[in-house]
Amino acid sequence: MNEYTTVPPLRFGVIADLHQDIMHDGPERLQAFIDRMKVADVDFIIQLGDFCFPIPENEVILRIWNLFEGPKFHVLGNHDMDRNDKLEIQNYLGMPNHYYSFDAGTYHFVVLDANYYKHEDQYVDYNNGNYYAHGEQLPYIPDEQLQWLIDDLSRTDRHTIIFSHQSLHNPTDGVRNRDDVHAALVAANQAAEFPKVIACFNGHNHIDAAITRDGIHYIEVNSTSNQWLGEGYEYDQYEASIRSRRPAMKYVAMYADPLYMTVTIAPNMIQIEGIQSEFVGPAPRERGHEGIVCGHEITATITSRHLMF
Ligand SMILES: [Fe+2]
Repeated sequence: MNEYTTVPPLRFGVIADLHQDIMHDGPERLQAFIDRMKVADVDFIIQLGDFCFPIPENEVILRIWNLFEGPKFHVLGNHDMDRNDKLEIQNYLGMPNHYYSFDAGTYHFVVLDANYYKHEDQYVDYNNGNYYAHGEQLPYIPDEQLQWLIDDLSRTDRHTIIFSHQSLHNPTDGVRNRDDVHAALVAANQAAEFPKVIACFNGHNHIDAAITRDGIHYIEVNSTSNQWLGEGYEYDQYEASIRSRRPAMKYVAMYADPLYMTVTIAPNMIQIEGIQSEFVGPAPRERGHEGIVCGHEITATITSRHLMF
């Protein structure tokens, strides 16, 4: 795969941070994504975490998700372990493992799990919201998982894309050992003598951004639903039934349209097709928020991009 070849392009759909348990319209947003991915006839779909709690009321989300008949993949987000452990959400979603890899078309894909905090030099799985008390020591890709990643990359000669919930790059809210992860990716590319790892996609921050470091593209996938603004920035103009059913909605800047991306990988290029929307109600700055999260302006947008490799 290290030379220009006439391989057919691969297409996949990405949706991040649905937050079904905050939003009043999670099913409609997911349905819009699935409908679009069917029309686009993508090769697979993937969601980047903070999807839905594994409770009976959320089975509507699984039913909609399963309307896409092709391969479907999940990434674990921190909030997916707010009320349960990893095994419970894995079983609910039908995940083979909490980190794993797969091939599609002529490409290789890796799903990582950064939902660990460090306590007395031990990595501890997020579990029933335990991580809320350990904000300064999270998140991490544990040593064992990093070694698995190194071994997994050494076994493939395909261009590779990595998915994670938390950023593998962002200095504000990315994984703490991001420099070790990046070094492993650079080493894999040097050993291969071609750009093996071409891109990393993450959710979690609900921002729209892309940066390139040592030829590897790090892409922040905006939430399909909202940005969390928190106390002091409430917008509470929703109808009473929404306010009572979804009390946390007032703390978010909601996006008017569901956001997601369609990604096409062609030889030497990653093409991202995004969506431009707008905020429901006043924009974050109009609500007194500084309007910036993790170093980037809050927007109701996923930017369309062409990234070369
Ligand atoms: Fe998250």
